[in-house]
Amino acid sequence: MSRKSFWQLLYLESLGLNEVILPEGVKTKAQALEEVRRQVLRCTRCDLHKTKTHYVFGSGNPYADLMFVGEAPGAEEDKKGKPFVGRAGQLLDRLLQEVGLNRETDLYITNVLKCRPPRNRDPEPGEIQACFPYLKAQIQILRPRLLVALGRFAAWTLYGMQKKMSLLRMQVQQSKFGIPLVVTYHPAAALRREALTDEMRRDFQLMVQTLEQLRQSS
Ligand code: URA
Repeated sequence: MSRKSFWQLLYLESLGLNEVILPEGVKTKAQALEEVRRQVLRCTRCDLHKTKTHYVFGSGNPYADLMFVGEAPGAEEDKKGKPFVGRAGQLLDRLLQEVGLNRETDLYITNVLKCRPPRNRDPEPGEIQACFPYLKAQIQILRPRLLVALGRFAAWTLYGMQKKMSLLRMQVQQSKFGIPLVVTYHPAAALRREALTDEMRRDFQLMVQTLEQLRQSS
């Protein structure tokens, strides 16, 4: 993905052309999120809707302090309509459990793309751009204390530009949404290269420490 496509994304946003419009009368986070979900379920903003089985909107606790963002649904997620229910999700659950977190109650989880790219190929810039308003709406509705990016596509999208993972990891970043951001590897990458699992454990330590500090300082 070129650097330009991310700048293009920011530019469209600055023009206000990249918004999800919520109807009046929406009062709670859960209601607002449900409205965005309804919009996703009829999305045709890019071609991925033609090849997907299910849209994968997000799951977990909309009132949680933590929000995780992955890349895009894989085969299992596409089949079930839920994020991170395949092997990568099982590893994620294990790592969460190790730091005492439960996916359904302690966080909300979604992806940059709401539809599966064919054969799990990398997301294309145009797809990220087309889907971005939904992610932005989810973040603005949930207003989590801390964002966690799983993998480089989520990291770049939340950080707002491309940067090496080695420069983004192991220190708390400021996301483009004004919410602190912890970047870690994608669990699918850790399944391919086992050494990354320990790196993820380090990032999860940073995540829980940061969350504790954020809670104490509010
Ligand atoms: N990989 C992702 O990035 N998201 C999922 O939901 C599953 C696998």
